[in-house]
Amino acid sequence: MSKVDVVLGTFFGDEGKGKIIDYLSSTADVSVRCSGGNNAGHTITVNGKKFAFHLIPSGILNDNTKAIIGNGVVIDPKVLIEEINLLHKENISTNNLFISNKAHIIMPYHIVLDKLLEEHRGNNKIGTTSRGIGPAYCDKYERSGIRVEDFVTPNFRNIAKKNIEFKNTILKAFGYEPLDADSIIAEYEEYAKFLSPYVKDTINIIHQSLASNKRILCEGAQATLLDIDFGTYPFVTSSSPSIGGVCTGTGISPRDIGEVYGVLKAYSSKVGEGPFLTEQNNEIGNTIRELGHEYGTTTKRPRRCGWLDLVALKYSARINGLTGLAINHLDTVGKLDKIKLCVSYIHNGKVSMDYSTNPIYISNCEPVYEEFERKFWRFK
Ligand code: IMO
Ligand code: MG
Repeated sequence: MSKVDVVLGTFFGDEGKGKIIDYLSSTADVSVRCSGGNNAGHTITVNGKKFAFHLIPSGILNDNTKAIIGNGVVIDPKVLIEEINLLHKENISTNNLFISNKAHIIMPYHIVLDKLLEEHRGNNKIGTTSRGIGPAYCDKYERSGIRVEDFVTPNFRNIAKKNIEFKNTILKAFGYEPLDADSIIAEYEEYAKFLSPYVKDTINIIHQSLASNKRILCEGAQATLLDIDFGTYPFVTSSSPSIGGVCTGTGISPRDIGEVYGVLKAYSSKVGEGPFLTEQNNEIGNTIRELGHEYGTTTKRPRRCGWLDLVALKYSARINGLTGLAINHLDTVGKLDKIKLCVSYIHNGKVSMDYSTNPIYISNCEPVYEEFERKFWRFK
């Protein structure tokens, strides 16, 4: 392990990053979530019991590891408190949890707006996780978001009141019930009280850790093809889950980063809408789904399944500067008689190794597969 190691998703999420993160975090002094929110799903095993965590970094399980929710994360306080309480129930201390004072809060109006925007898109919906992620990042960039450092002060009341007033004008204009500012504020002030002891300047903590040669693990959530810039826009999430988000979401400089592990599966899966060239919307896809248990951790949705796309992997490796790959579910494809790998595309009649998320480009591409038979592997 170098000073800062990073684990990132290389495709559309759900590559099994959690498994690799759990493995690496046992030797990390600090583990950090950099971006996204509770749209991420990560199953961890505590005392033999499985828990689906969405916000808390894996490092929490090791008392000697600082588990940090970085400034790039958007936090639903209710969900975070539920996760903390679950850990306490299992007698796991959260004294090693630190929440960035610069992370943003997901408010109830973000969740309402996420659902309404999806409704409004109709047939062009993105298939979001309805957790308020997009609207929370919108407010962050529009500069009306609520930072944790405001959330835990009396100033929260005024900011929230103003914001709810404004969101209610939008809701009313579209014929929806306005939100009750007073009850939301009262509820969220309680959450703020609960979370306040965990709030710290995590950028300083990270810098001090680096100065004293501590080892940091950055825990990626979502994945490169869901990146707001590099993914299949608009069918993406609203943050930067690729390498850039590690820097902007933590305060770590690119020069501090050592290994960048890209996680993938031996096949591909996707939740939500959008182009997925190697999708097998057929018996093969159904078989992979059942064999690989491809149902969402966050939304329980059946995932779309298909073959591994090496053209997209090359793109993802380039964007993130991957130094290593971790491949999950080799045993799953090992149960099939034949597997296919997409090795290039035919684009407008010509062989191409170029990936592009441009919808017109993708619609003009056909995957070229190499097929492998069971005799090439030994899994039963
Ligand atoms: P992990 O960390 C898979 C997808 C959603 C949707 C799109 C936008 O478990 O790999 P959002 O709610 O973020 O605005 O939804 O992004 N998505 C994920 N798909 N795994 C994830 O996280 C995802 N996080 C978001 O399904 O298509
Ligand atoms: Mg997931």
